[in-house]
Amino acid sequence: MSAQNYRLAGPASIEINEVAPRDGLQIEAHVVPTEGKVAFVNALAHCGFARIEATSFTSARAIPALADAEAVMHQVERVPGVRYTVLVPNLRGLERALSCHPDEVNLVMSSSETHNRANLRMTRDQSKAQLLAMIAEAGKAGVPVNISLSTVFGCPFEGEVSEADVMALARTFADAGAAGITLCDTTGMAYPNQVAALCETFQRALPDTGLTIHLHNTRGMGLANAIAAWQTGVTRFDAAAGGLGGCPYAPGASGNVSTEELVHMFAAMGVDTGVDLDALLNVVGGVAELVQRDVPSQLLRAGPRLRTHQPPAWMAEFFAAA
Ligand code: COA
Ligand code: ZN
Repeated sequence: MSAQNYRLAGPASIEINEVAPRDGLQIEAHVVPTEGKVAFVNALAHCGFARIEATSFTSARAIPALADAEAVMHQVERVPGVRYTVLVPNLRGLERALSCHPDEVNLVMSSSETHNRANLRMTRDQSKAQLLAMIAEAGKAGVPVNISLSTVFGCPFEGEVSEADVMALARTFADAGAAGITLCDTTGMAYPNQVAALCETFQRALPDTGLTIHLHNTRGMGLANAIAAWQTGVTRFDAAAGGLGGCPYAPGASGNVSTEELVHMFAAMGVDTGVDLDALLNVVGGVAELVQRDVPSQLLRAGPRLRTHQPPAWMAEFFAAA
């Protein structure tokens, strides 16, 4: 049996939400100028992503790197077939976001109390109340809502996070009308059977709510966790080009699972991601210059698995003589 016909059980196609313009650029020391951000989003938009998270409408004090969110949203090309989404933490941010006509909004809060306070300067109850009001407001504007729940697989301040807390929040937001929920592994604390267990619980409890999984590769388990999620039927993945990413308010945070490595892996397995790997690698090739540092992409360094090399020149003569 050929390798590609040996199917691990999972969906035949998945879609990817490219989050590098938001999760990636928010933590970079080098503030990318607006035109650089716009060019980055536009280049990504031609790679085949279902969604691009283009920026966040956060306070400029909290996330100075993305203070130009309106300008970015007004200037990006809106490529047909791509849904442009933005991260929003509060009602003030929603008002700003809606003025830019995103295709959807991604509201955020943490499933752990301490990270929510550190990141959003609100208690979970305060965030929950804001998010419920925001779901209603976005609904009036006809803009679909996704909710990203941070720290669901572990909190850098509290350790283990209760599955019951995560599912209670998910159910509250699904009941209030959120079209989708993203389970976020903010600092790469997740491990594969934990991911599979929560994804299965979620899909059993909320079968009509779109589930996305958001992984960071902080402890090297990003792709293993992606496979674990996929095997439970998950079809929506956040990932960041070049493996950029990280929450500035989570100690030890580092990059998301890298989009090119996720696409390369699933493509090798015969799973359709919709993304053109060569086009994406071209974009990733420019990321180091964009952020003024090396990017943690092993695939960029090694090349796709079938990009082969010339054998050493001495071999032709040596073996011809033999
Ligand atoms: N966009 C722009 N400005 C905002 C804002 C927003 N979404 N929310 C609040 N502000 C402004 C207020 O208008 C106020 O301005 P003023 O001082 O000129 O009156 C000021 O910020 C303080 O407002 P307050 O409501 O007290 O907010 P805060 O300072 O407690 O910050 C958040 C709360 C949620 C806005 C902030 O913590 C934040 O943006 N966090 C996001 C963190 C993040 O993105 N992490 C990574 C992704 S998970
Ligand atoms: Zn993240």
